[in-house]
Amino acid sequence: MLCRDHFVFWAHLLFNPAIVFLPGHRVDVMRKNQTLLSILSDGEWHSGEALAQSLGVSRTAVWKQLNRLIEPGLAIERVRGKGYRLQGHLDLLDHDAIISLLADSARRRASLEVLDKVDSTNSRVMQFERRGGDDVFICVADRQTQGRGRRGRVWSSPAGENIYLSMGVRLQGGFSALEGLSLVVGIAVCRALESLGLKGAALKWPNDVLFNGCKLAGILIELQGELEGAVRVIVGVGINVHMDRVDAAVDQPWVSLDRAAPSVTWRRNEIIAEVVNQTLEALAHFERAGFMAFQDEWRARDGLLGASLHTEPENLQGVGAGVDSAGAYLLDTADGQVIIRAGELSLRRSQ
Ligand code: BTN
Repeated sequence: MLCRDHFVFWAHLLFNPAIVFLPGHRVDVMRKNQTLLSILSDGEWHSGEALAQSLGVSRTAVWKQLNRLIEPGLAIERVRGKGYRLQGHLDLLDHDAIISLLADSARRRASLEVLDKVDSTNSRVMQFERRGGDDVFICVADRQTQGRGRRGRVWSSPAGENIYLSMGVRLQGGFSALEGLSLVVGIAVCRALESLGLKGAALKWPNDVLFNGCKLAGILIELQGELEGAVRVIVGVGINVHMDRVDAAVDQPWVSLDRAAPSVTWRRNEIIAEVVNQTLEALAHFERAGFMAFQDEWRARDGLLGASLHTEPENLQGVGAGVDSAGAYLLDTADGQVIIRAGELSLRRSQ
């Protein structure tokens, strides 16, 4: 029998902007010469001969590859007698480095794909899931051409600057286990960034990571379907790391890790591995214990607690009172406490 509560629950999932059902997308992968770049990324001088030897190619081939790197704008110095040197700092994505930094439990479960370019890492993982897929499939890309944010927004995804990470996981318990999921991922991202040296990250319900009120990271959870009691979930995480300017698509105050914690040398491979480690661990706990086990920590990280807020689009006025044991937001209004669900409303600070 389909009772009203079932209907409300399904409606909540279907209309929850943090949880979206969608079809797979075409993946466009561009290969580039990662090995030469990896060698040069140390910023040291390398002779043409040494480069040719390391790559197992001729010096002419090295020279051609270098020109291909210089063309799109990489500053490579050439000095007779010294060789080649990359100017400035390059924080390259590296498949093996990420794998080596994963916890044993994560490494056993996951397969990882590192791409130079993709439409959206969430779409890529979605495509993989449709073919069957490992226990956990992870995709990271240096840039996205159609990065997606919540509520149909564009997620600005320039090359070389940030983290665009998606994880395809199966959660036991079917759709009914999903309430609170995106909030738990927010906690995992905060834990990861803190373990690498960030202080003062906060959460904005349902799942933005903030620093000093500015957006540092966003989370997009998409569902693919149900299979034998488990639900397939794509967890997409975008983190601003080195970005120091953005295109016009970004319509809210933002911050990068470089600015939030300038004394830390932020390395994308380390951040990715730590976010994966923390997320898989948190999701395993969430599967066993539900959101209730995370409620206190979420409340402690709540960036809107005690703030004057209003909802959009209804313009309900109130004061932030934290999350309940299912992950819904509580707003103290003049008429009493109102429960806000992600599918219905979004929260804004009142001026
Ligand atoms: C938001 O705050 O609106 C959510 C942003 C989520 C962006 C990430 S980047 C990796 C993954 N791929 C996407 O297309 N989106 C998510």
